[in-house]
Amino acid sequence: MSLTPLPLTPPQPAHEANTNLAHLNPLPKSVFTLPQTAQLEALYTIIRDKDTSRGDFLFYSDRIIRLLVEEGLNHLPVVKRTVETPTGASYDGVGFKGKICGVSILRAGEAMEAGLREVCRSVRIGKILIQRDEDTALPKLFYSKFPQDIASRYVLLLDPMLATGGSAMKAVEVLIEHGVPEERIIFINLIASPEGLTTFCGKYPRLKVITGWIDQGLNEKAYIIPGLGDFGERRYCA
Ligand code: URA
Repeated sequence: MSLTPLPLTPPQPAHEANTNLAHLNPLPKSVFTLPQTAQLEALYTIIRDKDTSRGDFLFYSDRIIRLLVEEGLNHLPVVKRTVETPTGASYDGVGFKGKICGVSILRAGEAMEAGLREVCRSVRIGKILIQRDEDTALPKLFYSKFPQDIASRYVLLLDPMLATGGSAMKAVEVLIEHGVPEERIIFINLIASPEGLTTFCGKYPRLKVITGWIDQGLNEKAYIIPGLGDFGERRYCA
């Protein structure tokens, strides 16, 4: 039996694999995207598909979250560290400087906690609930719980969708009130809108944003387009 070889698609440079970064040009200096590979685009294509099962949504969004968390950790400072290897030789390497914690914006951000725990053993995690104030229509803090020493930690702020940026900006305001310097916060999300990124980075230019994908924009209901719909619904509801 002879097998017909499948056509091979070689890895492509980011600008040929897709054009999504063109949705925000120039990119703010504080924004970092995952390498825009065809494989990453394939993962996003699965989670964007409205016919993807909840099981597959969980599996493939977790894969992206894991990549994002790893990228977030790349932005933490390190210090020189020398170890002795089993051969008796010494190795001049580096070690992480300082402690971290995760802070998830409820409820969708909770979905990113497991990915952080997989990579950072026994990481401390705080939570924050922000909702729209019905009287003022502004984002309002409803609940927060942080590690008591959060002011001395680097904070990975977790929320899968950066739409208008309202909740994320409120969350950062609350973290700063708790003593966390802006430059020690790294905001991690799966999909960002150009509008949200522009507003958020304009207000907090010293804070790094790690995003997997920058989409076209927002619709009249503040959903990201093309987006993936309501992340929390797709993740938690069958
Ligand atoms: N939150 C979501 O879950 N999806 C969007 O498109 C925007 C905000």
